[in-house]
Amino acid sequence: MSAHPFWPPPPRTIMTPGPVEADPRVLRAMSFPILGQFDPAFTAIMNETMEMLRRLFRTSNRQAYPVDGTSRAGLEAVLAGVIEPGDRVLVPICGRFGHLLHEIAERYGAEVTVIEREWGTAFDPDEIVTAIRRCNPKVVALVHGETSTGRLQPMDGIGAACREYDALLVVDAVATIGGVPVNADDWLADAVVGGTQKCLSVPSGMAPITYNARVERLLAGRKRIERGLRAAGEGSSARPFIRSNYLDLCQLQDYWGPERLNHHTEMTAMLYGLREGVRIALEEGLEARFKRHRLHERALVKGLSAMGLTLFGDPSCKMPVVTCVNIPDGVDGESVRSMLLDAFGIEIAGSFGPLKGRIWRIGTMGYGCNMRNVLLTLGALEAVLLRHGVRVPAGEALQAAMDVYAEEKSAQAG
Ligand SMILES: Cc1ncc(COP(=O)(O)O)c(C=O)c1O
Repeated sequence: MSAHPFWPPPPRTIMTPGPVEADPRVLRAMSFPILGQFDPAFTAIMNETMEMLRRLFRTSNRQAYPVDGTSRAGLEAVLAGVIEPGDRVLVPICGRFGHLLHEIAERYGAEVTVIEREWGTAFDPDEIVTAIRRCNPKVVALVHGETSTGRLQPMDGIGAACREYDALLVVDAVATIGGVPVNADDWLADAVVGGTQKCLSVPSGMAPITYNARVERLLAGRKRIERGLRAAGEGSSARPFIRSNYLDLCQLQDYWGPERLNHHTEMTAMLYGLREGVRIALEEGLEARFKRHRLHERALVKGLSAMGLTLFGDPSCKMPVVTCVNIPDGVDGESVRSMLLDAFGIEIAGSFGPLKGRIWRIGTMGYGCNMRNVLLTLGALEAVLLRHGVRVPAGEALQAAMDVYAEEKSAQAG
């Protein structure tokens, strides 16, 4: 057989909003021996992971565990669990992933009301509260970090309004968990979904979720145990059962709980990876980790500005872990991305829908969010832009970013 040109996979510096480079400790953990899924050693790892996820989500919820599948599996599991056909669901949308929530809710039979804002902005929480009053939904589903536009949704008051109007608040924190504060309990969020392949620097393939007793009560009414697992007398509950078998939270929580009701075969190696990724985040300390993300964002932004590039979107709601850059007029954004990859092994992202071809998105997430990567990216981007005929003030970007690091160093010393 002829050699494959990309095997083994080439080394890359991944500066996209995900997937990003996995922490080597995570990759090592993923190569540990497989355990049987009812082996006490394995169930102890499951329980420990649940406890660490509670700390990561900042919650006292009993339910905190990963759904197997990529992040949208977590979103779909939560929405499939809380939506019964005909339920009213409110989805605020200002980017691709808001549209994804709409899409999933619709597929589970919801009557979806959307409120939309221009891509590159976020909602004033009052706009969402007003919409809750107007449409009285059973569920409000929103995105905390809208990766497609690099915007962070302020959460103040939204959870309280949901409680007042007896709506459940479901939050997509896929891109923010582990990089930006995600405060499930303080937000009064009923369910929060995280992602592995971004600020946790674990490969994609699991979606950590948490949900509270309000959601558990709703699920209790929809429980339906698989036929082959039912004991005599067990059957279905009164309300419509969840349409997905794989993403059935009733069965998943019984698998993760003391019942250990068999469902799918757990993704052993992924769980080792997730456990290690969350452990690394907690070891660093969440506040220290958020601060680190802010520092490297600041250096990146200073460098980009010194290069004469402009940032896309409303700066008041910029995500600290994603920086969106307007592609200069007349520049072929894809050609720049290809040259960065081919010549430097650095990957940055484009965007979707109305922003396709208009912006680049640079991620500074998790393990890859460090000085070396920020400086390499700025230097390489400068070289590639010069190569594309863009007149950038050579050398300024790196100096501006290095100033940020020097200031931080002296602030730490002082
Ligand atoms: C905010 C947000 N939500 C959901 C998703 C979907 O995640 P996945 O591709 O892991 O299913 C992504 C992925 O980039 C995301 O950024």
